Amino acid sequence: MRLVFLGAPGAGKGTQAKKLVEKYGIPQISTGDLLRAAVAQGTPLGKEAKAYMDKGELVPDSVVLGMVKERLAQDDCKKGFILDGFPRNVAQAEALDKMLAEMNIPLDLALNLDVPFDDLMKRLTGRRTCKSCGQMYNIYFSPPKVDGKCDKCGGELFQRDDDKEETIRKRLEVYRAQTEPLIDYYSKKGILKTVSGTGSIDEIFSSICAILEKIK
Ligand code: AP5
Repeated sequence: MRLVFLGAPGAGKGTQAKKLVEKYGIPQISTGDLLRAAVAQGTPLGKEAKAYMDKGELVPDSVVLGMVKERLAQDDCKKGFILDGFPRNVAQAEALDKMLAEMNIPLDLALNLDVPFDDLMKRLTGRRTCKSCGQMYNIYFSPPKVDGKCDKCGGELFQRDDDKEETIRKRLEVYRAQTEPLIDYYSKKGILKTVSGTGSIDEIFSSICAILEKIK
């Protein structure tokens, strides 16, 4: 199963992708997570990426494409993968098509999580993530039992640098201008499915699984 997750910042791509990893045992490839890891390690790539991420802009395609190509070539991607946050514009989508054609593997599905724009700000400003295990919380919708501590492992919760109101506005603008056109791109290829991303996380997950069961 090879799929691309589409959806605005805060639509729940990461939340749902993690559940799919647990259920289907295929890796989640999040370009945002890969970039944040490079930033944390202080690599040259991370230093270059940080300036863009802090402003809420897209990191240049040249940086992201190399990273994705390397990751897709790893053994665990042979049985499938979930691309989360990639592609982000038409140039990246075309580059992905080329990469997969060279590897002789087709993309099965582009899954678009649809959430009204008005809901996204609260989801993003309220997001908290565990430093140790990556479990996600939301102080408005799904708070941890103890403030600032992970329910699962007791790790410390943090807020992402780009989850400030001003940066979120820019990310949403960038999404509208550069990423939203991918809905049309994949629709024309006949592999787009749209799922409502509002409601409970489990309800949304059931709708996604129902679609995936049909293409398995
Ligand atoms: P990235 O890390 O990809 O962030 P994003 O696309 O902005 O998406 P998010 O991770 O913010 O949201 P999500 O949809 O995963 O939502 P989540 O599940 O966390 O990108 C960050 C930056 O990296 C970019 O701005 C760019 O600079 C760079 N970058 C990354 N990829 C790139 C690329 N390909 N090219 C160039 N640059 C790139 O959920 C959000 C919150 O909502 C959580 O608190 C969660 O608990 C809550 N929530 C989830 N579902 C629900 C629900 N059903 N009801 C209520 N709350 C919910």
